[in-house]
Amino acid sequence: MKRMLTGLQPSGELTIGSLMGGISQSVQYQDEYESFIFVPDMHTITVPQDPKELHERIKRNVALYIACGIDPDKNTIYIQSENFYHANLAWVLECNAYMGEASRMTQYKEKSQNMKNIPVGLFTYPILMAADILLYDTDYVPVGIDQKQHVELARDIATRFNNKYGETFKVPEPMIPKTTAKIMDLQNPTKKMSKSTQNQKGIIYLLDTEEVIRKKIASATTDSDNFVKYDAENKPGISNLLTIYAYFKKTTVEEVEEHFKDSNYKDFKGEVAKAVIEGLAPIKEKYKKLINSEKLDKILDEGREKVNALAEAKIKEVYHKVGLFR
Ligand code: AMP
Ligand code: TRP
Repeated sequence: MKRMLTGLQPSGELTIGSLMGGISQSVQYQDEYESFIFVPDMHTITVPQDPKELHERIKRNVALYIACGIDPDKNTIYIQSENFYHANLAWVLECNAYMGEASRMTQYKEKSQNMKNIPVGLFTYPILMAADILLYDTDYVPVGIDQKQHVELARDIATRFNNKYGETFKVPEPMIPKTTAKIMDLQNPTKKMSKSTQNQKGIIYLLDTEEVIRKKIASATTDSDNFVKYDAENKPGISNLLTIYAYFKKTTVEEVEEHFKDSNYKDFKGEVAKAVIEGLAPIKEKYKKLINSEKLDKILDEGREKVNALAEAKIKEVYHKVGLFR
């Protein structure tokens, strides 16, 4: 069975963007592939965090993954910082990656743009991500389009290492979802809905209350046409709502367009809110049962034991190849 691996950063509360662009893909493929899902918490400290909040979010995120349909019997679920080998491998890979290629990462350029003191970790972060992937002989990496460049970097580093030291790493492939590749911010529909955006009005969190969801969707930015039609370029707000509705109703954008062709924006938004609320209700229910349960700790303990053993074998192989042994 091919192995699939992905991680969702605990940099903020999970949003419907994380669900549609990230988690749902993993759910879809969990029967087809051997699946590893982890919390890349070490990536999160590349920008300042409140330690207490970060700590609490880690478990909350895991509970949400499972509530969203990640089946602990079919997936290996773990926390990155509980396995010390990620950082070990990252170091070796950093010594085999170039300043030039790391400097080309668009996410780094964006994130560091307005920073006075840029943490070195923010710059090397894609190489830690390469380590996350290469440590486990991953075949496929399901990610949103914004992470594709990082997976390509992992491919380049793996290939280079293999050529230099002999076959060591599997060269991974990114898996990008087609229809829900990018969910936009409701207030600012030309920007990605991101769990780390300050203004929360444009973001729907998985744990938002019904009232909050209704309000956020009602005040979503649209346009002055007042007809529902998919046109990402000229009608980004409406197109985004169409995509969201189609996802939660498990249908296509074309069908939704047809369904709402005579509706005004107010009615359409009401229906979108209803679809999102209905879609999130069972997730919230499951989450509440899990968050303080012993079951959650057991899942994470098992995940840690399993990946530690795999990672240890891989890092030993790597250290031998580069001459790091007695
Ligand atoms: P993030 O939530 O930004 O840490 O991203 C976690 C994963 O979910 C990555 O694979 C992202 O590409 C994906 N993702 C996050 N937000 C969105 C979004 N608004 N639309 C599509 N995919 C997203
Ligand atoms: N960098 C990814 C993000 O910000 C998270 C991540 C870290 C990841 N390591 C990974 C995703 C390995 C897939 C595979 O979304």
